[in-house]
Amino acid sequence: MSNRLLEGKKGIIFGALDEKSIAWKTATRCFEEGAQLVLTNAPVALRMGEINKLAAACGNAPVIGADVTNMDDLKNLFEKSLEHFGGKIDFILHSIGMSLNVRKGKHYTEMNYEWNQKTLDISAMSLHKVLRTAWDLDALNESASVVALSYIAAQRVFPDYNEMADAKALLESVTRMFGYYYGVKKKVRVNTVSQSPTRTTAGSGVKGFDGFVNYAEKMSPLGNASGEDCANFCVVMFSDLTKMVTMQNIFHDGGFSFTGVTQEVMEQMEK
Ligand SMILES: NC(=O)c1ccc[n+]([C@@H]2O[C@H](COP(=O)([O-])OP(=O)(O)OC[C@H]3O[C@@H](n4cnc5c(N)ncnc54)[C@H](O)[C@@H]3O)[C@@H](O)[C@H]2O)c1
Repeated sequence: MSNRLLEGKKGIIFGALDEKSIAWKTATRCFEEGAQLVLTNAPVALRMGEINKLAAACGNAPVIGADVTNMDDLKNLFEKSLEHFGGKIDFILHSIGMSLNVRKGKHYTEMNYEWNQKTLDISAMSLHKVLRTAWDLDALNESASVVALSYIAAQRVFPDYNEMADAKALLESVTRMFGYYYGVKKKVRVNTVSQSPTRTTAGSGVKGFDGFVNYAEKMSPLGNASGEDCANFCVVMFSDLTKMVTMQNIFHDGGFSFTGVTQEVMEQMEK
C-alpha cells in the first residue's frame, strides 16, 4: 500500500546487504512511497552483487560504493548523488553496524582496542562522517531527515552485545550533538530508531541471538517489531509528518523498552 508520503523526495540508503537487511526493506518501502534513491554499501559488500536486484526494483537506482569510514568515498558518494538527483537530498538512512571483537569472538572484558577503534568508527563515528560530508557540501535540503539504527543495549546491559553497546551509545550521542548543529543551521532532523532484535546478517552475528529474539518477543506487549515494521517507521520519519522531531532515540520495539515484566515471563519463572 502506498500513501505517496515521499513523493518527490530524494534519499541515500546505506547498508542494504541482502533481502533480510533493514536497509533493503526500507529502500523498497521508500520507493513505493514515491522517493528516488541512491543505494550505497562498502565495496566488499557490493561484490556480493545482491544489491543490484534491489537497485532494479527501485527504478534502476544508482549503486555507489563507499566505505563509510573513508571521507574521500563519502565525498564522491554525495557529489555523484547530487549530480544524479539534479538537486539536494531530503533523507538519509544510516543502517550500518559491524563489530570486530564480536566477529572474532573476543569477550568484552578482553577487548582488542585496535579492533574496538575500527568498530566505533564503522558503527558510530561514521554517522558523524556522513553528516560532516553533507554539511561541507551543503548537500541536504531544509528539513531533511537523517535516521540511524540503534539498539537498547545503549541504555541497558545485554552482555553478549559486547562492544556494540558502547558503539550504539556513541551513535546516539552523535545524533544529539550533530542534530543540534544541523537543526540550527538548516532545520535538518537527526534521529535514531532503536529497533527490536531482527534476524539479519548483522543481527545473527550476536552470540545467543535466538535467545535474544525470543526473550524480547515475550517481553514486548506488541511482540517484536519486524524489519518491515521498521521500514514503515523510517518512511514516516523521512516524511514531512515528523518535521519537528529531532535529536531523539525513538524505541521501535513493541513496548519492550518500558516493560518491567510480562505475565508470560512470570509464568516461565514460576515453573
Ligand atoms: N538486526 C538487529 O537485530 C538490529 C536491531 C537493532 C538495530 N540494528 C541495526 O540496524 C542496522 C542495520 O543492520 P541489519 O540488522 O540490517 O544487518 P545487515 O548486516 O543487513 O546490515 C549491516 C550493513 O552494514 C554494512 N557495513 C559494514 N561495514 C561497512 C563499512 N565500512 N562501510 C559501509 N557499510 C558497511 C554492511 O555491508 C551491511 O550492509 C545496524 O546499525 C544494526 O546495528 C539491528
